[in-house]
Amino acid sequence: MPLVTTKEMFKKAYEGGYAIGAFNVNNMEIIQGITEAAKEVNAPLILQVSAGARKYANHTYLMKLIEAATIETDLPIAVHLDHGDSFELCKSCIDGGFTSVMIDASHLPFEENIKLTKQVVDYAHPRGVVVEAELGRLAGVEDDINVSAEDAVYTDPKEVEEFVERTGVDSLAIAIGTSHGAYKFKGEAKLRFDILEEIQRRLPGFPIVLHGASSVIPEYVDTINKYGGQMPGAKGVPEDMLRKAASMAVCKINIDSDLRLAMTATIRKVFAENPAEFDPRKYLGPAREEIKKLVKHKLINVLGCAGKA
Ligand code: G3H
Ligand code: 13P
Ligand code: ZN
Repeated sequence: MPLVTTKEMFKKAYEGGYAIGAFNVNNMEIIQGITEAAKEVNAPLILQVSAGARKYANHTYLMKLIEAATIETDLPIAVHLDHGDSFELCKSCIDGGFTSVMIDASHLPFEENIKLTKQVVDYAHPRGVVVEAELGRLAGVEDDINVSAEDAVYTDPKEVEEFVERTGVDSLAIAIGTSHGAYKFKGEAKLRFDILEEIQRRLPGFPIVLHGASSVIPEYVDTINKYGGQMPGAKGVPEDMLRKAASMAVCKINIDSDLRLAMTATIRKVFAENPAEFDPRKYLGPAREEIKKLVKHKLINVLGCAGKA
């Protein structure tokens, strides 16, 4: 099946009360682990590429690997630019075959966010590409930019209708308390479902996106620390909260950190148990298997999108 946009996926997800998993990809093993999991449970997928991933792995390599995954799985897969920070980057991904881009101008004043988002929409739509934008600001680390908890801003529901109407954007990422990276909540996890509800009320049927949605699975952090790592303990987004968001207007849930933890924990364990190992297949292979196991769990138990391809 050729690459698809997220339009149809989001419509079905909204109506069906589930969410599509948007997983960050950086190399072949990550792409294979995610797509093999989705194939086994027949789930639609969004594979997302950050500017950093594109710099690391090269646009063409990633596109060809994803193309290979569409052939191997025959699943509906969308390729999405994660956190595009300029018109030029979005244009380059649109011209290079992505089916969806995010323009993240959430750090700019409202009018400037609208202007830049609309510029990307005006370029993307005639070329059959959909656009995600962001209102509000998440805490955490993305592409080496660190937003402190004090600088994070919840999305203001009063702004969403005007933003969507004036930009023509296809989906909207909102800030309700999640954050990027492996250190999200020091104490109890708290998400502002009241804000999500109000946004849903103001934009009926419109797909909402949740970034920073890794659960920071404690078993992986424990394994990393058991085998020489030094990750401070921190809490991610509890899975029951993600399930609740998925049953509401949230149609896309972004997960990257959990994949990184799965991969790192597995590789550390292999080296701890076999210090003489030097065949990359012997540590990247098990890491790929662990990603597959993790993604299957997310698709079935957290996102609710298994069987929906
Ligand atoms: O939100 C950011 C994603 O986790 C991507 O991270 O920019 O380091 O590739 P990255
Ligand atoms: P996590 O760091 O919680 O995995 O969030 C990823 C993300 O939002 C990518 O855009
Ligand atoms: Zn994000």
